[in-house]
Amino acid sequence: MRAILRHPARAMFFILALSGGSALGAGNVEKGEAAFRKYCAQCHTPVPGDPLAAPKLDGVVGRPVAAFADYRYSDAFMARKSEAMIWTEENLRKFIHDPREFIPGTVMQFVGIKRTSMRNNLIAYLKSID
Ligand code: HEC
Repeated sequence: MRAILRHPARAMFFILALSGGSALGAGNVEKGEAAFRKYCAQCHTPVPGDPLAAPKLDGVVGRPVAAFADYRYSDAFMARKSEAMIWTEENLRKFIHDPREFIPGTVMQFVGIKRTSMRNNLIAYLKSID
């Protein structure tokens, strides 16, 4: 440890390694979960019988848009479904960045997450709840 701290560059590498790679571009599941609880869970938590509760997001990465037959999606979402759009990581990133710009007419009332690292963390979390 003392040898590491004597070399600032090595100490920096050590810290990056400890941070679980989030500084290198991949998302961090725990931080993503915290962001999800803060920004998404008030809607995306299934409440049985509540028609206003947003669709469940377990397994959403790689799933077709508007996959639940018993959920009443917006017309904008149904149009994407008929185009067979898939929630790829790329599409999720764009949607989470600015929902109404990416799918005009969506009823998801959310301004979007502008920080790239937070979007990466959210996607890492969504992948983990497959
Ligand atoms: C104010 C409530 C609300 C918040 C907050 C919210 N959502 Fe949504 N979300 C919705 C609704 C409602 C829909 C359905 C949209 C439609 O039909 O136009 C939706 C749809 C989605 C879908 C598509 C689901 C599918 O089955 O195709 C994804 C992915 C999603 N939201 C992710 C998120 C993420 C990630 C966050 C947090 C960063 C978030 N949402 C925050 C209400 C919300």
